[in-house]
Amino acid sequence: MKPITLIIGSSGKTGSRILSKLKQEGYPVRLGSRNAEPPFDWEKPESWNDVLQGINQVYISFQPDLAVPSSLEAIKTLVQVCQKNQVKRLVLLSGRGEPEARACEQIVQNSGLEWTILRSSWFLQNFSEGMFLESILAGRVLFPKVETREPFVDLDDLCDLAFASLVTENHKNKLYELTGPELVSFRDVFETIAEVTNQTIPFEELPLDDYLSTLKEFGLPEDVLWLIDYLFRTVLDGRNESVVNDLELALGRKPKDFRTYAKETAKTGIWKIQERVG
Ligand SMILES: NC(=O)c1ccc[n+]([C@@H]2O[C@H](COP(=O)([O-])OP(=O)(O)OC[C@H]3O[C@@H](n4cnc5c(N)ncnc54)[C@H](OP(=O)(O)O)[C@@H]3O)[C@@H](O)[C@H]2O)c1
Repeated sequence: MKPITLIIGSSGKTGSRILSKLKQEGYPVRLGSRNAEPPFDWEKPESWNDVLQGINQVYISFQPDLAVPSSLEAIKTLVQVCQKNQVKRLVLLSGRGEPEARACEQIVQNSGLEWTILRSSWFLQNFSEGMFLESILAGRVLFPKVETREPFVDLDDLCDLAFASLVTENHKNKLYELTGPELVSFRDVFETIAEVTNQTIPFEELPLDDYLSTLKEFGLPEDVLWLIDYLFRTVLDGRNESVVNDLELALGRKPKDFRTYAKETAKTGIWKIQERVG
């Protein structure tokens, strides 16, 4: 019998990829989404028991980020509900360079259930499916820390490993630190996207405090501003400027490099800046 997987964050960037892989290979799944039936909402732990009934394994992508103070209690409670429902295996998506995330990882590692931790660097797809797409499409990028380098991870690579962690025994009780094959600065990212799309994308470096003030003027809520501040100030303070080969060893092939991702993504047209009228 194939195990039944609950994918928490099934409509998100990683969850949707894992969902389609599991479905393609004929594995039964339950969607972990506020729009599913029964719904899964991180804000409503009293409803998690219904969602977990009959589930054998869970892919956990927390919202908004394991670095936020509420994550610890949420992961603790989720693990308890999983134990109660005799869930066998947990695969946790975590963030590299986030001390608060470590505490959540440890809860999963000490749960007595089988576990895999995917402690990931920043995703390449933040530029094509996530928080930085909008500023590229606005045709003018304002950004702090443009010279900071990050070993961006491709989500198809990450999700291949998440899938293997769910359907094989090979990654049981293992913690992987996931990086791409190289360090790339944010300046390189924006210049390369401009080059491969044959567009001009001017960008301007500004101090982090000015960047946050600008986002505040755009109406971003305080908790989102707190997280952006944390990510830039803590995670991008240089601590992640190193490459490790866990992903290559786990996948048995080289992870995707930034330029390949940029060229492939350019072909989809997602970065095409519309002509402004008037
Ligand atoms: N971005 C990065 O570079 C990076 C790097 C390392 C780790 N991470 C971690 O990756 C995780 C996010 O994974 P992802 O990028 O795959 O997800 P995502 O694309 O950010 O979104 C996943 C889904 O979360 C759901 N969601 C939002 N609020 C929710 C709530 N209150 N309760 C339940 N679901 C909620 C939404 O689905 P519905 O509307 O369907 O409910 C959304 O589609 C975070 O924990 C982050 O820390 C991110």
